[in-house]
Amino acid sequence: MKGTGGRVKPTGLRTLAFCALAFGGLLLGFKMIRFGMDYWFDFKNEWYFWRAYHMTMTTQSSIHISESVWSQPTNGSLFCFVITAPLHHEKRVPAVSRTWLKRCDHGEIFTSSQEGLDENIPYRTLFQHLDDSYDALFWKSKLAIQYSYSYMQISPEFDWYMKADDDSYVIVENLKAFLATLDPSQPYYLGFRLRPHVDHGYNSGGAGYVLSRKAVEIFSTQLFTNFSICPFNIYEDVGIGKCLEEVNVYPHDTRDSEGRQMFNLFTPGKMIRQADLEAEGQEKWFYDGYLNAGFKAISPDSISFHHVSPDMMDTFEAALYHIRVRQK
Ligand SMILES: *[C@@H]1O[C@H](CO)[C@@H](O)[C@H](O)[C@H]1NC(C)=O
Ligand SMILES: *[C@@H]1O[C@H](CO)[C@@H](O)[C@H](O)[C@H]1NC(C)=O
Repeated sequence: MKGTGGRVKPTGLRTLAFCALAFGGLLLGFKMIRFGMDYWFDFKNEWYFWRAYHMTMTTQSSIHISESVWSQPTNGSLFCFVITAPLHHEKRVPAVSRTWLKRCDHGEIFTSSQEGLDENIPYRTLFQHLDDSYDALFWKSKLAIQYSYSYMQISPEFDWYMKADDDSYVIVENLKAFLATLDPSQPYYLGFRLRPHVDHGYNSGGAGYVLSRKAVEIFSTQLFTNFSICPFNIYEDVGIGKCLEEVNVYPHDTRDSEGRQMFNLFTPGKMIRQADLEAEGQEKWFYDGYLNAGFKAISPDSISFHHVSPDMMDTFEAALYHIRVRQK
């Protein structure tokens, strides 16, 4: 009994050990494959972007370009693009399209699908290979800037390139008047300056930011392909600011002659009432310090506002372009 048991036991143990090892090995193998897949498909990863970029470029014919894009000029002063996602095709996109966007020399909406959009809305499904989550916004901007500068009928022959969100409202005449004071062959990066994360500050994504032709050229030639100096950032605007900082392009002071901001982070109502502004941590966040309260917070030369609902866009449009104020 003892002898048999002695023979069986080590064999049983060996089998057990072998099984455990094999199982462990298999598990490790699966884990590694899983890790590799996660790495490959994780949108924070540069490979994710490269793949999406190459798919976009090799299947350019599948990018839908609406009719109202084709009629717009491919050169001029101001190119505007609005970044959006299908979630906002129903309300925000038509509001942007029927209000300010048409005042740019060439204005387009960049999105990922045709869902619910008609041909009168100037849009292009540039983001069909990118994730629509908010966290992947940085890649959308990176692709949009590069594409606007380099491809097809969007040519490098604009002086200025503006990126805006689908809840930004832009007073294009005021923007153009401001831009007319600057030379687009110099690298300008214009918007509402925020302080944290980037030494020289960065421009808020929501207030919209403008790059001069020179800045876009630098972006396209030095930053776009170089992931060591222009890596993914979970915050689109911080990411773009960091990339530009690497090539010494810093946000410019865009305040008016009385120190009021012209690119605005909020709606006029929020600025006038200073509602919740304290909670926003002005000292910590605003590169140029505190905003005024009351109507003196609003520059007469205001260029943009943010967090503007579709209804408020129509209100802006009516107040600025349709309602006449009778002289006394
Ligand atoms: C755009 O290009 C056309 C054709 O080359 C030219 O005639 C026109 O003056 C250009 N417009 C602007 C604003 O540069
Ligand atoms: C990326 O940029 C850095 C800093 O300018 C430079 O040293 C490096 O050579 C660049 N890499 C590539 C692949 O261009």
